[in-house]
Amino acid sequence: MDNSFNKYFLEKKDIIDKALLGVLPKDNRLISKAMRYGVLNGGKRIRSILVLAAAEASGASYKNILEIALAIEIIHCSSLIHDDLPAMDNDDYRRGKLACHKKFGEDIAILAGDALLMYAFEILANNFQKYQIKSERSAKIMALLCEAIGSRGVILGQVLDMKSENKKISLKRLKEIHSLKTGKLMQVAVRIGAEALKLNTKQIKGLEKYALHFGLIYQIVDDILDEIGTKKELGKMPGSDKKKNKSTYISVCGLKKAIKLAEKEAEKAIESLKVFGPKAERLRQLIFFIKGRSS
Ligand code: IPE
Ligand code: IPE
Ligand code: MG
Ligand code: MG
Ligand code: MG
Repeated sequence: MDNSFNKYFLEKKDIIDKALLGVLPKDNRLISKAMRYGVLNGGKRIRSILVLAAAEASGASYKNILEIALAIEIIHCSSLIHDDLPAMDNDDYRRGKLACHKKFGEDIAILAGDALLMYAFEILANNFQKYQIKSERSAKIMALLCEAIGSRGVILGQVLDMKSENKKISLKRLKEIHSLKTGKLMQVAVRIGAEALKLNTKQIKGLEKYALHFGLIYQIVDDILDEIGTKKELGKMPGSDKKKNKSTYISVCGLKKAIKLAEKEAEKAIESLKVFGPKAERLRQLIFFIKGRSS
């Protein structure tokens, strides 16, 4: 990956990290501490950077939608806190540190995940007021987001993921699970960013298609890294999927084919950027970055 992209990525990550620190509760209540821990404990900030890069590809300034990027990142962190719980993936480490429930207990971790979700919606509502987004548009954004992360989106994906442990499932079914549990949040992230920036239908369609493939590559690589990554690189325990007999791209089609399928998805993602021309360079580079990541 060329240096200019690395610089771009780190710059954007820094903007997000600082903004997250600024926006999260600052008091010393236990719940606030757990919320901060679940968000500010590292994290690549891929989803929020995706929102900013999508705005730039469309020729818009990302500044008006910074809060949208933050809300998406916070929703993601909330989902990870719950994902690590003993009742779910039962993972003790996240981002090189103890998982939230290991640090604060299961009770507080469950509540911190819920509180972060509510917090994300509060941040969004404040953004709509700040930029005087019309009520019709803001209601649409809220509805799109709720649908994508709720029982027809991410949560459905998580349910299907849990219920596919110790089972043989088809590649088609696995693709559906990955698109739901990981792809949906990425798709809705660029979609609501585009709505807030009032992009045209062609641009919205291109971005959504891109994000759909982006999400799939992301989760395929996550499955691959669980198989071949190290704890040091990942900040979480590798081999976690195998231990729970999860249905993953490794268990369903093997490492070699998984790598090939990630390549295919990358080609499709890049193809969907045509409508944006050279402005989409960062989005194109982001694909190579997530495909080649080791953490
Ligand atoms: C982990 O996401 C969970 C998946 C959906 C693959 P990330 O790998 O983006 O986690 P952080 O936010 O960088 O820790
Ligand atoms: C997590 O997927 C998906 C969501 C949190 C919605 P994984 O369970 O594969 O993520 P890791 O491997 O624990 O980071
Ligand atoms: Mg999981
Ligand atoms: Mg997990
Ligand atoms: Mg995983």
